[in-house]
Amino acid sequence: MADYWQATVTTPVNIAVIKYWGKRSVALNLPTNASLSVTLHQDQLCTTTTAQCSKEFASDRLWLNGKEEVIKPGGRTDTCIQEMKKLRKAYEDKYEDPHPASEWHVHLCSFNNFPTAAGLASSASGYAALVHCLATVYRLPNTSTELSLIARQGSGSACRSLFGGFVAWDMGVNEDGSDSKARQVASEDHWDDINAVICVVSDEKKGTSSTSGMQRTVETSPLIQERIRLVPARMAEMERAIAAQDFDAFAQLTMKDSNNFHAVCLDTSPPIFYMNDVSRALVALVHEFNRVSILQKRGHRAAYTFDAGPNAVIYCLRRNVKDIVNMVMHYFPQAEPFKDTYKVFYGKDTPGQMPLPKEFNEAVAKRWEVGAVRGLIHTKVGPGPRVLDVEQSLLTPEGMPK
Ligand code: DP6
Repeated sequence: MADYWQATVTTPVNIAVIKYWGKRSVALNLPTNASLSVTLHQDQLCTTTTAQCSKEFASDRLWLNGKEEVIKPGGRTDTCIQEMKKLRKAYEDKYEDPHPASEWHVHLCSFNNFPTAAGLASSASGYAALVHCLATVYRLPNTSTELSLIARQGSGSACRSLFGGFVAWDMGVNEDGSDSKARQVASEDHWDDINAVICVVSDEKKGTSSTSGMQRTVETSPLIQERIRLVPARMAEMERAIAAQDFDAFAQLTMKDSNNFHAVCLDTSPPIFYMNDVSRALVALVHEFNRVSILQKRGHRAAYTFDAGPNAVIYCLRRNVKDIVNMVMHYFPQAEPFKDTYKVFYGKDTPGQMPLPKEFNEAVAKRWEVGAVRGLIHTKVGPGPRVLDVEQSLLTPEGMPK
């Protein structure tokens, strides 16, 4: 037997179309409503994590994006590690496995292929990676839904990053959280032409963290009660739209739910503002784009959604990416050329300089200076966690970052 066990995995980012906002248990990260997200492709956004456990290690240690972090006893990371050790212990007992890996300390090394400060959900992919990686190291047979119970305790939205495609997090009713877990609604292959254009509005760290923001909402907002009441019907309708590949319904629900979530933030005392003037200009552009699209009997062709920050994620079908990127770049000129990974522009097409859709009201927004939208990332729905080869380990055989 080797002196150590290790595994390296990558996990995706997910962006919710029905948002999680509000906890009924802070300790267990139990939500006040169910949520549903789209898993984004790891070619553009992912977390890579290596976990190594060895009887030689003196303590659990974690390096995040090149810097060692303190693992606070009883904190979220520690909770996930301890819960995974418990699962391993149960496995050792059940199968009389002679390797006491559950008693060894672990070293974890993790990095994101996107800047944490871009305000993209790094906690979701980060905790999902930690849990999935330890499950792999420990050779556990648990399903992704079972693992989602643990990832959820790291960060609520992390439970949804254990699957590809379209993922629901059922809120559950049990006090111990045993039924508050994620499940795949549809795989990435079911509706693979769902694309996303991420408009990176700000590189700055957000003002109010999701954790404290949602607690304040639960304590002070009467409107959250209305949101809790209406989400179940919205979840059912969203699942139907996905099953039927009904983009028109998907888009309308996504935008409604994002707006309802931000309304609830505004109803919080003191109010929480995540969207800014650039975010609102993007909202106006998408609505104008859809207005002319509906006139042309093409239905809604774009849907924005905003998390706890000003960045917009615009969902659309692949065939509409070109028109949307062109429109965004017309109003928000970019310092860098558009990175056309999926080849949506041909020949002489120059994003930002092609005509806007017919009958588009150009006065719906002003043209902004370069840098108001700092960058565009074109991605699409993608698969769940992946296990990498030994050579791709982020740790040396001694358990130190490479
Ligand atoms: C607006 O999962 O980051 O992105 O459970 O406190 O870690 P914690 O919160 P987190 O909240 C995400 C909120 C959201 C909506 C969503 O992803 O559903």
